[in-house]
Formats: sequence, C-alpha cells, structure tokens
Amino acid sequence: MFNFSFQNPTKIIFGKEQIAALTNNIPPDSKVLLLYGAGSIKRNGVYQQVTAALSDFTWLEFSGIEPNPSFETLMQAADLVRREKIDFLLAVGGGSVIDGAKFIAAAAVFEGDAWQILAEGAKVTSAISLGCVLTLPATGTESNGNSVVTRYETQQKLAFSSPLVYPKFAILDPTVTFSLPVKQVANGVVDAFIHVIEQYLTYPVNSPVQDRFAEGLLQTLIEQGPLALSQPDDYDVRANIMWAATMALNGLIGQGVPQDWSTHMIGHELTACYGLDHAQTLAIVLPALLQQQRRQKREKLLQYGRRVWQLQGTNEEHIIDQAIANTKAFFQQMGVPTQLADYDLSAAAIDTVVAKLVQHKMVKLGEHGDITPDVAQQILQQAM
Ligand code: NZQ
Ligand code: ZN
Repeated sequence: MFNFSFQNPTKIIFGKEQIAALTNNIPPDSKVLLLYGAGSIKRNGVYQQVTAALSDFTWLEFSGIEPNPSFETLMQAADLVRREKIDFLLAVGGGSVIDGAKFIAAAAVFEGDAWQILAEGAKVTSAISLGCVLTLPATGTESNGNSVVTRYETQQKLAFSSPLVYPKFAILDPTVTFSLPVKQVANGVVDAFIHVIEQYLTYPVNSPVQDRFAEGLLQTLIEQGPLALSQPDDYDVRANIMWAATMALNGLIGQGVPQDWSTHMIGHELTACYGLDHAQTLAIVLPALLQQQRRQKREKLLQYGRRVWQLQGTNEEHIIDQAIANTKAFFQQMGVPTQLADYDLSAAAIDTVVAKLVQHKMVKLGEHGDITPDVAQQILQQAM
C-alpha cells in the first residue's frame, strides 16, 4: 500500500427530515447565498424546507446553475457574492450546483482571472465557506474537494480540487430523491459505480481494506440500482444508493492505492463537445477502456470478476471477458446506453475528442500513464 494522509472534514447529516438541521449548522450571523439550478427544488418541496430553515438568517438567492455548470453563470454569482459581502454559500441540488458553489467560493475571493484556477491549476488560497443539501446521489461532490466547470464558448470542461472547498456539512435526505427523473437515477448509479472502478480496477498493491470496501460498494450498486428503477418509492433503496454514492468518492477507498480516472477525462471531453450527460459518457468509455487495458489491469479484472460478479472457473480470459460484458450489461439494465452510435456520434467525433485531450494535456492518462492520444483513439473506436 502507498503512504497517505487522509482527512475528510465534511459533516454528513443523513436521513428523513434533516433539512431543518441547516439552521444549526450555518454559523450564526452569516449572510447566506442560496444557490440552486433550474427549479426542481421548488417542485419537490425542498426549497420550502430550506427557506424555512433559513428564516433567522439574512439570505439571498441565485438560481439557474446549469447541469454541467457554466463558468459564465458562476462568475455572475461570484460577482454577487462580492457585491453583497456574502459569507456562506448554501448549495441545494445535484453535482452541478454543488460543484458550481465550490467554484464560486474560490472565484469570489480569487485575485486575478478565476479561469486560471481551472485552466492553469492556479492555487486556491482562500474560499468562502459552503454547505450543501444534496438532491441527486451520484458525484460524491457533497463531501469532497473537487469541482468540474464548463466554459461553453470554448467547449472546455475542466476540474479543480482544493481542501478549502469541501462542504462544511452535507445534508442527505433520501426522500428528496423520489422526484428524480428515471434517467437521473440511472445516471447517478452509473457515475458512482465508475467512481469506485476508477479507484479500484488498476493493479494490486496489497490493500484488502480498500479493495473490500470498493467491492462492497460495487455489489451494493449492482443490487440496489435496478431496485431504484423497479421500486421507485422504496426509501431504503434510495438511502442505500445515496450513501453508496457518497462513500464512492469521499476519498476513503482511494487512499493508498493507484487510481485511474482516464474514463472520466475522456468522458469530460465528450460532454464538453457533444452535451452528453456525465454518466452517459462514462458508460460508453469504460467497457471499451477495460477491454483495451485488459493486459495492464489483468490481476484486478480477475479479482473484480471473481469477487464482484462471482465468476468461477479457471479460464482467465473467459472471466475477464465476462466481467467486462457484465459491466456493460449492468449499465444497459440501468437504461444507460454504452456505444457512441447510440447518440448518433460518428468517427469524426472521435477525432474531435482526441484533439481536445491533447489541447488539455491529457496525453498520459491511466494508472500507468500509458493512455496516450493514440490509445484513447483506439478506445473510442472500440466504443463506436
Ligand atoms: O437544475 P435542477 O432543477 O436542480 O435539475 C437537476 C438537473 O436538471 C435535476 N435534479 C437534481 N436533483 C433533482 C432533480 N430533479 C428532480 N428531483 C431532484 N431531486 O437533475 C439534473 C441533473 O443534475 P446535475 O447536478 O447536473 O447532475 P449530477 O449530480 O449528475 O452532476 C453532474 C455534474 O457533476 C460533475 C459532472 O462532471 C457534472 O458536471 N462531477 C463532479 C464530481 C465531483 N465534484 O467530485 C465527480 C463526478 O465525476 C463528476 O465529474
Ligand atoms: Zn463521475
């Protein structure tokens, strides 16, 4: 196992009727900016619960943060934060709103052009405090320091990370996920699943704690994901998915082990260029990537096949084939297509995506740094 130091500062407040706990978790006398998206929170009662809990605070609101939040919109919010001397951001929504809040938190106090945080990796040295109410289990952003922002005019989807933008608290009430469209439920399960895979399916470093946590999360998502589609009113299913998605990317399972993230980096370019949902891109890239990397990932693919999918026998090639096929079938069972052609994307799209990877210096991806632009091209061709 590799050395590591681990701290996750986000307080998780989990369960029914927990939104009211906002009141006691925002520092007293804060001037709060409530951030949200297109308004789903007004239709499912979350907005009403949040504003009731804010009644003793001075607060303003900023709405319209898009799925795949845009730099342009977030900079408007950052201006508002400065103008109004906001000292606490409350993000209420899915990954896009929470990622957006993290960028606003950093951009509002950044000296210089805040785009450099994303484009140049400029260091974030201070940030406004934030907390969140999560409405879509998927990204894990509710308790990590990552944020992904898109600049629409240049079709660039870029990420930054900072310990300063971890939410102070995250309220996870599974009942708020009952209103999710089926597509978003499925996207969330697939995204969380692939977060685990990116930290698990690399090469062995004798890390049975991390491996068995990861395998438990994968099996939970394989079991509970389809139940969320067939029994959408089941609270326990929603709660299990919500907790699994948080645990998938709160840093725990990735400590001390190699990580991949190439599926995500290739997927981000597909979203930036063609507007596919984040999870849709991952479901396309991952099976083809596993096939292309089957030699490098051999030992972990066998472990994954045997432990997660309970594949038996001595024919190792067959186990690997079946593990990849089962992965693909799981995404399809969730209703998430797995080929570029399912979105009418042709070979020209592959060239565009690979050129974007080069532009963003994503030329040595994967746990071995061996996913070059040529290899990414092969992966995307497999995914046609
Ligand atoms: O805009 P609103 O009205 O809120 O509607 C949203 C949006 O249309 C809707 N929604 C959310 N909760 C709902 C709901 N509708 C009804 N009922 C509810 N309870 O769902 C739509 C999608 O929301 P979005 O926030 O975009 O989805 P998701 O949570 O999947 O977030 C995706 C973003 O997160 C980034 C992705 O790249 C993408 O930009 N990621 C962030 C990560 C991180 N910070 O660690 C890691 C991930 O890998 C990912 O890259
Ligand atoms: Zn993801």
